[in-house]
Amino acid sequence: MKVSVIGAGHVGATVAQRVAEKHLANEVVLVDIVDGVPQGKALDMWESAPIEGFDGKVIGTNSYEETADSSLVVITAGLARKPGMSRDDLRDKNAEIIKGVTEQVAKFSPQTKIIVVTNPLDVMTYVAMKVSGFEPNRVFGQAGVLDTARYRTFLSMELGISVRDIQAMVLGGHGDDMVPLLSYTSVSGIPVTQLVSKDRLDAIVQRTRQGGGEIVKYLKTGSAYYAPSAATVEMVEAVLHDAKRLLPCAAWLSGEFGLKDTYAGVPVVLGKNGVEKILEIEMTDAEMAMLHESANHVKETIAALKI
Ligand code: APR
Repeated sequence: MKVSVIGAGHVGATVAQRVAEKHLANEVVLVDIVDGVPQGKALDMWESAPIEGFDGKVIGTNSYEETADSSLVVITAGLARKPGMSRDDLRDKNAEIIKGVTEQVAKFSPQTKIIVVTNPLDVMTYVAMKVSGFEPNRVFGQAGVLDTARYRTFLSMELGISVRDIQAMVLGGHGDDMVPLLSYTSVSGIPVTQLVSKDRLDAIVQRTRQGGGEIVKYLKTGSAYYAPSAATVEMVEAVLHDAKRLLPCAAWLSGEFGLKDTYAGVPVVLGKNGVEKILEIEMTDAEMAMLHESANHVKETIAALKI
């Protein structure tokens, strides 16, 4: 198993570290455009192996030869948000970067699957799918797992109950119009609406929507990476272990939920073939309207792309 991570910045390096430490691959290849950074970070990581107890190699490079025949590629290359920027503000610059990266990835690993993490997420996933020419089930994006993790964390803080007992799903595009599904939020099976007041739930939903921005405000010079990398690695594990996990991921829609020709966060079954199934679950009219609004926003941003 070889996992290549493109972009050796905060998210990419942390993904590589988690993949190595969780023994998910026997080779992790970290690629970046900046000379020395992937080499230095990868060697530093590899030198932690005797202490952390993993056997996989960690290789850092500026070229794509070493990524050849990857089982899975994670793309994190690009610019991160600064305070005051929306994810869409990154669109054109990151689209150029994703285009160049994807051409190289597809050339050296024509059979691979790609998980996109770069923002604006749904749009960059579209760029990777188009440029690679891969079937859409092999190109998908990480957003819903992170948004759901934030939502569950905030609910856990509110309730004083373990995050492990909170089940939830956040769908839609990875923007401030994402769709936390209240109708599917429960605490060990108990509907969350029995345990948290409407006002508090509204506030938690709002905090979830702005969860990325909250971290950007604190950090000032970059965006979140601990939770984003953990979310990405949950998806990496699902694919490499053919685990058939049911996770919210950015997937290409061809009529599901009445949506077509766009990426949006929906419940999917993730396994060795990537997105193996999209589950068209029922939701309330209000949730469905929100999903459409969010997906249409992604579609408009795709239409405005200059690639
Ligand atoms: N090829 C390879 N790497 C590149 C390229 C390229 N063409 N262009 C930029 N990079 C690298 C940068 O050199 C940098 O090391 O991408 C890395 C990005 O790292 P950070 O700036 O630390 O950003 P990070 O916090 O990791 O976020 C990366 O993930 O969550 C999203 O919004 C976030 O789009 C952003 C991405």
